[in-house]
Amino acid sequence: MAKYYHITTYGCQMNVHESEKIAGMLSELGYEACGKIEDCDIAVFNTCCIRENAENHAFGNIGMLKKLKAAKRDMIIAVGGCLTQQMGKAENLHEKFPYVDVIFGTHNLNNFKELILKKQKSKKSVIEIKDSEGEIYEGEKPFRTSYPNAWINITYGCNNFCSYCIVPYVRGRERSRRSENIIAEAKELIANGYKEITLLGQNVNSYANGTEDLSFPELLKSIAAIDGKFRLRFMTSHPKDFSEELAQVIAENPKICNAVHLPAQSGSDTILKAMNRKYTSAEYKAKTELLRRYVPDCAITTDLIVGFPGESEQDFKDTLNLVETVGFTSAFTFVYSKREGTVAAKMPNQVPEDVSKARIMELIKLVNSKTREQSAQYVGKTVEVLCEGFDDKKQMYLGRDEHGRMVYFPNGKNVVGEFLNVKISSANGISLMGDITDG
Ligand code: 5AD
Ligand code: SF4
Repeated sequence: MAKYYHITTYGCQMNVHESEKIAGMLSELGYEACGKIEDCDIAVFNTCCIRENAENHAFGNIGMLKKLKAAKRDMIIAVGGCLTQQMGKAENLHEKFPYVDVIFGTHNLNNFKELILKKQKSKKSVIEIKDSEGEIYEGEKPFRTSYPNAWINITYGCNNFCSYCIVPYVRGRERSRRSENIIAEAKELIANGYKEITLLGQNVNSYANGTEDLSFPELLKSIAAIDGKFRLRFMTSHPKDFSEELAQVIAENPKICNAVHLPAQSGSDTILKAMNRKYTSAEYKAKTELLRRYVPDCAITTDLIVGFPGESEQDFKDTLNLVETVGFTSAFTFVYSKREGTVAAKMPNQVPEDVSKARIMELIKLVNSKTREQSAQYVGKTVEVLCEGFDDKKQMYLGRDEHGRMVYFPNGKNVVGEFLNVKISSANGISLMGDITDG
């Protein structure tokens, strides 16, 4: 009889790809994917703890499984990811939800299958949270779910210790995969028909730093040199490590998308210093100017935090000013979330919630108006779109242009995985709508 798994993923792209790896391991154990958690034999929660709401969301959903587990005693519930890796959280989770069968950390992906097999033989919960051993995952067979797009990890962990961020504590120090393994994975994906590859790391720019291996720009160049029509993207770039060489490589290689995610976090020098970001607002702007000198049409997207401890009205105005002057294609905006164990959690002058709320509303309004201004300029233009899927609600195909804008268009036959020229007829926020002009 078929056995089924269901995975709930929280947080970033890194986690989405990690869930694909977990899915690959569950396939090896004989499980098949299923859409509804009620129908599965094993439910996995791949959690995130970067902000408190991501954590609460996961806790809430795990809590809701109590009834289902009581009715389906053989069902296995496994919880892993960043949340469980935090000091004391696994014990906390076990106490609160004793019906969770397997609790594993971010450094346990290599032995995830063993943990499941161990649980199948035991009545007790299996809890294993390893410390980082500098592990690098190789040779997994991710069950990819996002054709024609595919993700490849190039680094794990982070060394930056931005004062608000919990990632270095739950993902360990930065380590890089060997370039030959990354290039081989990219070659295989392209040979198998994938059309867009995104290289993933907390800070891709410091890839293989201090080693004999290729630098990040060299790695990009080597992947872009693989035969075939495909797009290459990467995420995330720390502004302090964004180099002229990288801007040049983007400019010279048409397969590398003219789109860079460059988190600024704040426009205030005082706050950037307190965040331990290691650049000033002027230096950040200079990096965007350098990038645009080489790649004039480059889409720059960013992450911004409001309400960091000590953020004054003027500091916040400096962030608004950054948004006014840089011309971001879009921005992810966050209210600062206090994370226990980080340096910022101990800082005085935490900003009151109502002040942060008012600031984020104002910031979102400005970011959206800038995005709309840019989108409006696309009307009447033709862009190349890689079709990614079909939107049931809109009854239209959808895909992205090189700059990462979502484009919707009608079509009679399935064109997922094809590059198409689409003439834009209207814009709505960051998404565009149009009609195919070829084929
Ligand atoms: N509070 C709010 N936002 C955060 N981020 C990381 N840590 C926090 C935090 N404690 C944001 C940063 C980062 C993005 C992935 O999440 O903007 O770039
Ligand atoms: Fe967190 Fe900073 Fe590392 Fe990004 S670079 S993961 S924000 S510590």
